[in-house]
Amino acid sequence: MSNYHIKHLEEYFQVYRKSVRDPETFWAEIAGEHFLWRKKWDTVLEWDFTKPELKWFEGAELNITENCIDRHLLTRGSQTAILFEPNDPKEEAQHITYEELHERVCRFANVLKSKGVEKGDRVCIYLPMIPELAVAVLACARIGAIHSVVFAGFSSTALATRINDSDCKMVLTSDGSYRGAKTIDLKGIVDKALEDCSGVETVLVAKRINSEITMKDGRDEWLQPLLDAAEPRCTPERMKAEDPLFILYTSGSTGTPKGMVHTCGGYMVYTAYTFKNVFQYREGDVYWCTADIGWITGHSYIVYGPLTNGATTVMFEGVPSYPDFGRFWEVVEKHKVNQFYTAPTAIRALAKEKLEFVEKYDLSSLKVLGTVGEPINEEAWHWYNDNIGKGNSPVVDTWWQTETGGIMISPIPFATPTIPTFATLPLPGIQPALMDEKGEEIKGNLVSGRLCIKYPWPSMARTIWGNHQRYKDTYFSAFENKYFTGDGALRDATGYYRITGRVDDVIIVSGHNLGTAPIEDAINEHPAVAESAIVGYPHEVKGNALYGYVILKEVGESRDHDNLRKEINQLISERIGPIAKLDKIQFTSGLPKTRSGKIMRRILRKIASKDTDNLGDTSTLLNPEVVQEVMDNALV
Ligand code: PRX
Repeated sequence: MSNYHIKHLEEYFQVYRKSVRDPETFWAEIAGEHFLWRKKWDTVLEWDFTKPELKWFEGAELNITENCIDRHLLTRGSQTAILFEPNDPKEEAQHITYEELHERVCRFANVLKSKGVEKGDRVCIYLPMIPELAVAVLACARIGAIHSVVFAGFSSTALATRINDSDCKMVLTSDGSYRGAKTIDLKGIVDKALEDCSGVETVLVAKRINSEITMKDGRDEWLQPLLDAAEPRCTPERMKAEDPLFILYTSGSTGTPKGMVHTCGGYMVYTAYTFKNVFQYREGDVYWCTADIGWITGHSYIVYGPLTNGATTVMFEGVPSYPDFGRFWEVVEKHKVNQFYTAPTAIRALAKEKLEFVEKYDLSSLKVLGTVGEPINEEAWHWYNDNIGKGNSPVVDTWWQTETGGIMISPIPFATPTIPTFATLPLPGIQPALMDEKGEEIKGNLVSGRLCIKYPWPSMARTIWGNHQRYKDTYFSAFENKYFTGDGALRDATGYYRITGRVDDVIIVSGHNLGTAPIEDAINEHPAVAESAIVGYPHEVKGNALYGYVILKEVGESRDHDNLRKEINQLISERIGPIAKLDKIQFTSGLPKTRSGKIMRRILRKIASKDTDNLGDTSTLLNPEVVQEVMDNALV
């Protein structure tokens, strides 16, 4: 019998040891006992990190939507699968049962087929957090189309880049979206993006805000009439375990976004297993993850993980500040939420507001609180633990990445004792290693280093879409025979891990991964700009904020710097999205560079963070004199 559900610490250690001693038996038992396979696998795992090549459950066949939906129909057909909470609290919530979800996914799948979408085709989904988004994702999975969800806060340029990179032939969108008191013209953004995407044949449009939009003849169609006319049954496609399930883009420190490819079998097993354990989900519980399905957290822990376990998963369209800062807690009370999963940035933003927003509501249903996306500071951890959990709901600080597919290091609530700011222990099957700069593994405790994983786990991304070499270079070249995460971590005296942050040029702002290169590229497009460099600096709510150093082509007194700052941010909004806007922009005559011409971001980071006591050796710089000028004019 596999230990699918871990309930106490001793059991965790026992299961963990087994997962390391004999990973194949461990995962085969879990996969065999808890999922519906149309054909069993020939081999559990084949791997080679040098290529890199990873195959889990090779030879097996399945459809993840049968696991998420069909197999629950007999036992819990009338249970709520998706509980949709709209942006406006006055609009009624929707309880979509497993039976209804089944019908909606089947109809949607049939619409996709009728529009010529076939197994292996890529479909771009650019939808707000409305039920159609989850249904669209599952409909693609049902027919074996590869979904590529693009967060509906990205700009038209960012959307076009992603559509073209994976040759999507269809885009699913809506007329617009609600965001608190505002509306956003999503269809307009899609239209603009598609001016540069010749491969898109069809755009299907869900109606959400009833706005006036233009529909392009022969390309655009309203979704609802097609759904109404479609057959309510659709046989799931038999997928090979290693067939791609989806592509999800994530920023790198350089270059274009990376389309991480996740496959059907391993992803299903790992997200289901980790959902069950990290949230201790029990029959009848209501689980709420506040992320957007446009990010990996939403894919794995709003859609696939919860539904595979037959859970009730809340989908929230709104924002934590609308109509006021009590919204999260109002929703928790209203739906009697048992597990609540959010980002440290949201916690910090809410902790700044009056406690009355929390105290007004009955939060006694809560059992487990989760955080994800960035390191959680001690103060925010305590606020969450004390005021939301009232000291009774363990806080699970879950560390993972788009690339890992599922949660990697996290407490198991009621089993692992928690310590603020520590993600604590690796989940079963996960073998972390801390590496020094020479490439040696640092053994023992009370050490810190670069965080790697030295053995495969089922939900690893298998490649970068269209660029396997980049996948190898980014994740498997820094340290021999290991997956490199890009994060630094420390291991304390008891073996607990604390993630200390990125060690590359990725900056996490409000839990969103932002690479420096695309932002710098956007700034450099401004006709007045010669060169720029972006760094992160600590920010009370966002975790990190962006600080830009900009060299202008012509330095003149007549330049209106405030106006330039606005124009630069406008450009960033257009090219990437509002999330990448800079908080501070300093104009400078030069940037500190090494003799080989590389910008010394370490120095810029220190200046932006007001940490200039120890700038290190600047004498080897190409232009040491510039450091003083940058410091003198710093906006801190
Ligand atoms: O730096 C780590 C940080 O977020 C990065 C992954 O970002 P992304 O792929 O967008 O996925 C976010 C949601 C899974 C990691 O490399 N990160 C994520 N969770 C934590 C974290 N840093 C510290 N503590 C965490 N719990």
